[in-house]
Amino acid sequence: MTGLTRLKEAIERHRENKDINIKYKTPLTMTEKSEAVPGALPIGQNSPQKAPHGLYTEKLSGTAFTAPRNENQQSWLYRILPSSSHQNFQPVPDSSSQSLQSPSPSFGKHFNAIPNQLRWDPFDFDKEVSWIHSLHLIAGAGDPQMKQGVGMYIYAAGASMPEKTAFYSGDGDFLIVPQHGTLDIRTEMGNILVRPMEICVIPRGIRYHVKLHNEEPVRGYILELYQGHFQLPELGPIGSNALANSRDFQIPKASFIEDFENTEWTLYSKFGGNLFQAKQHHTPFDVVGWHGNYYPYKYDLGRFNTMGSISFDHPDPSIFTVLTAPSHGHGHGTAVADFVIFPPRWLVAENTFRPPWYHRNTMSEFMGLICGAYDAKGAGKGGFQPAGASLHNTMSGHGPDMQTYEKASTMELAPAKVGEGSMAFMFESVLMVGVTEWGLKTCAKVQEEYNDHSWGPLKVHWKNPGTRGLSNGEAQKGVGDGKDHSSVHDTK
Ligand SMILES: [Fe+2]
Repeated sequence: MTGLTRLKEAIERHRENKDINIKYKTPLTMTEKSEAVPGALPIGQNSPQKAPHGLYTEKLSGTAFTAPRNENQQSWLYRILPSSSHQNFQPVPDSSSQSLQSPSPSFGKHFNAIPNQLRWDPFDFDKEVSWIHSLHLIAGAGDPQMKQGVGMYIYAAGASMPEKTAFYSGDGDFLIVPQHGTLDIRTEMGNILVRPMEICVIPRGIRYHVKLHNEEPVRGYILELYQGHFQLPELGPIGSNALANSRDFQIPKASFIEDFENTEWTLYSKFGGNLFQAKQHHTPFDVVGWHGNYYPYKYDLGRFNTMGSISFDHPDPSIFTVLTAPSHGHGHGTAVADFVIFPPRWLVAENTFRPPWYHRNTMSEFMGLICGAYDAKGAGKGGFQPAGASLHNTMSGHGPDMQTYEKASTMELAPAKVGEGSMAFMFESVLMVGVTEWGLKTCAKVQEEYNDHSWGPLKVHWKNPGTRGLSNGEAQKGVGDGKDHSSVHDTK
């Protein structure tokens, strides 16, 4: 999969979209409008005394009313019945086939913040369960009740959600990264088909139903954002195009069901980390028209216009940011969550150690692999594999394993393409990310030898220029001899 092939495949995926209801035109944050029936949207005002065609008007606010204009997100929905029309919510018992796998009654307490580097073997498929029950909270930080933090999930489902059910998260926006299988998602605002190599974002509160496409099991990753919303990163000196371009995001067209007589739907709500259910006598998917800038959207990673060094050294991985969610409390340029990808790309930097450098980061780095082999890590069994994951927490050292270092530091540096057929990604957060009990133990996928295998075998190449002719072992002895080897350093 060369860069060009990657784009060609994205174009093919776009053409396959003909059978679904996708609108291709979306600068994020721009107001869009969509009518499934002509005239469903009122002209010139949002809330006329009587909405067109006997519809109800409902406003969906994704930010505070008073958020600044360039951050304000809302949509106006014109629907057959308003979403308030349902019976009381009741907690979903743990015994239910729809319950959450990772309920979180004392949310802040069940994250284990540990400084070890962690890596997981590929997560299993689960053919028995549907979307809600398939959500495994693996890591995260913060608290949805405080609208602060993130949750990271692995999902693996083998069945569609039952008919006449819908789900929403009151806790945050879901950024969904399919690794296997296609999600056929009906949202209040229309349908979205999301395949591996595509991602989608379903903002907080929007109701949806997940069906498996062609009965194929699904598996993937989710980042839930408890605060704010994703946006495109600023491009600075790069200019007005590159990375993910706003023109490539896709949103659904309005599409509705008429089901409001002698019918019963179950609405599931993830709220404060717990799951609730309510019955209602009409479908939640009855929005005939909508307009606004708060909507679900998807993006094909094959369209990402990758930038990199054409002289020496490689830029920080932030150059691969697809979407970012700023954390205003942590200072300018700091994100509560960045979604970063590592696409196939040319490496041409001269006199440069081309893999990622050894690194400690104030940000936490959770990585996953959609397909192929990541260029900085050994692949195959026991390595970093598709459907697996890794976590390098705040200030936990990480970097290439021994084999990668030895090869990259001695190889001839001809232009080379890396990441062919591969797509790794990173959820990066300023927060210290903790791991759940499921992530540490229940899933039984943690590679206990990860650190030992990766960095234990690293060789000492140090040769003390002042002790000419000593072997590595002797040089090491010299360093540890208790003598002060400090000297004045020049700036390099
Ligand atoms: Fe790093």
